[in-house]
Formats: sequence, structure tokens, C-alpha cells
Amino acid sequence: MDNKVYIFDTTLRDGEQVPGCQLNTIEKIEVAKQLEKLGVDIIEAGFPISSPGDFNSVVEISKAVTNPTICALTRAVKKDIEVAADALKFAKRGRIHTGIGTSPYHIYQKLNSNPEEIIERGAAAVKFARQFVDDVEFYAEDAGRSDNEYLARVVEAMIAAGATVINVPDTTGYCLPGEYGEKIAYLMNNVPNVDKAIISTHCHNDLGMATANTLSGIINGARQVEVTLNGLGERAGNTALEEVVMAIQAHKDLDFKTEIDAKQIIKTSKLVSTLMRMPVQANKAIVGRNAFAHSSGIHQDGVLKNRETYEIIDPADVGVKESSIVLTARSGRAALKHRLEVLGYKLDQEKIDQVYKNFLVLADSKKDISDEDLEVLVGHEKKEERVLKLDKFQVICGKSCIPSATVTINHNGTIKTETATGDGPVDAAFSAIKKMIDIDVVLEEYLVQAITRGSDDIGKVHVQLSHDDRTVHGFGANVDILTASVWAYLDALSKIV
Ligand code: KIV
Ligand code: ZN
Repeated sequence: MDNKVYIFDTTLRDGEQVPGCQLNTIEKIEVAKQLEKLGVDIIEAGFPISSPGDFNSVVEISKAVTNPTICALTRAVKKDIEVAADALKFAKRGRIHTGIGTSPYHIYQKLNSNPEEIIERGAAAVKFARQFVDDVEFYAEDAGRSDNEYLARVVEAMIAAGATVINVPDTTGYCLPGEYGEKIAYLMNNVPNVDKAIISTHCHNDLGMATANTLSGIINGARQVEVTLNGLGERAGNTALEEVVMAIQAHKDLDFKTEIDAKQIIKTSKLVSTLMRMPVQANKAIVGRNAFAHSSGIHQDGVLKNRETYEIIDPADVGVKESSIVLTARSGRAALKHRLEVLGYKLDQEKIDQVYKNFLVLADSKKDISDEDLEVLVGHEKKEERVLKLDKFQVICGKSCIPSATVTINHNGTIKTETATGDGPVDAAFSAIKKMIDIDVVLEEYLVQAITRGSDDIGKVHVQLSHDDRTVHGFGANVDILTASVWAYLDALSKIV
């Protein structure tokens, strides 16, 4: 059996069903393009009959991406299928995903039907969908709680009707990994025409088993996994793409492969989190802020000597550029020096010793030391060393006017002034600065936070810039958030210039 596992991303369908996570078409296109870069095989772009917005998104995503197959969800209802086929008309490769419930709850209560009628309705839907596309996936909703013998009969009938992929959803997240794996194995061994279709997993995380169930599924013969970024999805979510992909990558012994470019994982995770307004929990596997963070001195020492002592995945493999060393009172000089270098400070030993002394005093009173704290600790050196200083600036912004900014800086003693327009006052100010500093930088992150602990300043701004292979951070705090932004930007740029 081929060992390629197809990655079916349903962030834009099952993920988007989460209350508060809805995206507009432009945002969906942005996510879809990033999913294409990530290398997913199939993008489930929406449920076209459900709303004109969903219909339009499937149309526009079909136009915007080339490589992945675009999939549209339907019920086993003719009208749904016609509308889905219409929405897919621009897709280079389109797939209709149709299906019906197969557990007693669905057959008798939700659908007020009987097992034979369900098979007929499912097969009719698959045949009808095949009139529009060659690629038809069938889902047996609540397969997790469906009887295996009956499920095998359903699957056989759907493949005979023309289904190319059979989805075995654990819709309620009920199964245990052994149970779900046995279900897949049962289908592989008892459906006579199973070799004519790909079996797919679709697991929900109600008991925290989604990733384990998905892996158990592929170990037992499934070759497609339905997943979402950051595990977004109904209730406790769906299987997280990043967890399955990295489990496969870390366990070479399993001998599975995917086409995912893992270096795009963090970028995709951040984009989805930002656009869907769903923060990622700090300890979330692979993509959480703390997923590669080491805070104890012993771990830090081990990691700085040999990363693999405490890491099974190289953070760089998933696109994490930053150091994973979290500074606390238990950290040593080596960890401090390392972090300062990441922030762009190359201090000699004498200065490191000075900063370390102050660092220990501060670390005793705080749980962990942030980059901003370090900026303050090296503050007086930094001010002397900073090559770009803000002299003055002025912005014009408001309703019905084009935001513009005029910025005057002191660049190593030379006064320069530039004006630029932008999408907003911050963008305009950054553009004006870019005009004066002729180097190619990309703004990777721009974060505004309220200061909550006993300061007169009301806002702090953190920016992350990249230039060639280098990443630098800048920090600014001020009562005026625009001033803080410009300071942070200049602070970061100074480390590159
Ligand atoms: O969880 C589920 O059963 C689903 C189907 C519609 C595929 O999302
Ligand atoms: Zn689902």
C-alpha cells in the first residue's frame, strides 16, 4: 500500500463553523493561498448551499488556488449537490463531499429513517454527484458510533455508486484510539471493493483523542486525514494538522509521508489564529507559544549543548525562528547571552556580567523575563548604540482621508525627513521611515498591548522585522500608541542598520 497520506484541510469549513470564527471571502482566499503554500492536497472550501457567502467563497477560492483539489460539502440532497457543482465550476480539480448519518441516532432519530433507506439515499447522492465531478467523497456521519458491520455495507454500496474517497467521521469525538483503528481495519478487511477508494479519517477532539485516533486510522489503512490548523472546529475542535504532520515526521518508523512544507506551519497557524480571532493556547503542541520553550536552567543548559536533549522536533522545521530559551531566575549567563544575541545585542563579557547581575535581581521578583524586560536591562547601552532615533513626527488620519505621516529621524547624526501615505497612520509612518532607510525589511509581527502593571504608559508595542535570514525585535512604550509604534520600528531597524 502506498505510504502517502493525503492532507485534507477543513479549516475553512469545519473550522469556520466555530462561533465567532467566520471569515469573509477575502480572508478565506488569503488562508487558502497560504494552505496551498503549506502543501495541503485538498482544501474543503465551504458548504455552498448554506449561504451566498459560502457559495461565493468556494467560487473565489477555486479561482485563486491551483494545486490543491477544492472540495465543497453537501448533504445527500440533490439541490445541495447542484449548488456545490456550480460553486466548483472554476476549480482545476473539484470534489463534492456528500453524505448522510449512519449511527442509530442519525438513522432513527435525526433522519426518521431506516438502515436500508439510508444506503439508498447515500448511493443516489453519490451517483448524482458523479454526474458533475469525477471525484466524490462520501461521509458516513457519526461513523464513530455506527455499527461496523452496517458501516461496511454502507461503504461498499458508496464505492459501487462511484465514491472515490470514504470519510469515516468520529463526529462526536467518542472513539478511543484502539476502537477507531479497529473500525478502519474492519472496513479495510471486510469491504470487498475497498481498494477502489481512499479511506479518510475525520476526528473530533471531545475526549482529546483526535490526533491519536487519526494516527490510529492511518496505521490501520486510512490514507487521507481531515484536519484543521490549530485544531479549530466544532466544540473541542478537529484533529490538528500540525500534530499529525509532525507526528508522522518525528516517527520515521511509521514510514508515512505527506507533501506538507512543515516550515510553513507556524506562519499558517498565526494567520488562521489572527484572521479567525482564535488565540492559540500557550501550551498547544507544535504551534503554542510555549511548545518549544525551555525555562529550567537544566533544560536550557541541555538544549544549548545539544538541542535534541530536550527537543524531539527542531523548532526551525516548523518555521519557528526564535530561540526557545525562556529566561527565569534559574537561567545562567549562557542563556542570557544567547537571548540577547537573538535580540540583536552583542555585548562583551563585562557588560554581560553587569546585565546578568541586574537580571537576577529582576528575575527574583518576576516569574519570567520578557524581551521587553531585557531591552530595559540593556537600556542605557542601547540608547547610546541606537543608530536611528526619532526626532519628531506627525500623522494625519481620520474618516474619509488618506492617512499620511511625516517622520523626522536622526540617523547617526544626520537629520532626515520623509512623508508617506499608508493603509493607516502606523503603516504611513513605517513607510516614511522605510523611504529613508533603504533596506529591504519585512514586518513579521506588530503587537500592541496595554500595560497593566503600575506604569503611566498606556501602551507598549512590539515589532518583529526580518531582513534576509535575520529576525530582529523592537520595542516601544508610550502614552501615545503611534509614538510607541514608531519607536518600536526604529528600535528594530537600528539592529539591522
Ligand atoms: O464531523 C462530521 O461528521 C463532519 C461531516 C459533515 C464530514 O464534519
Ligand atoms: Zn466534522
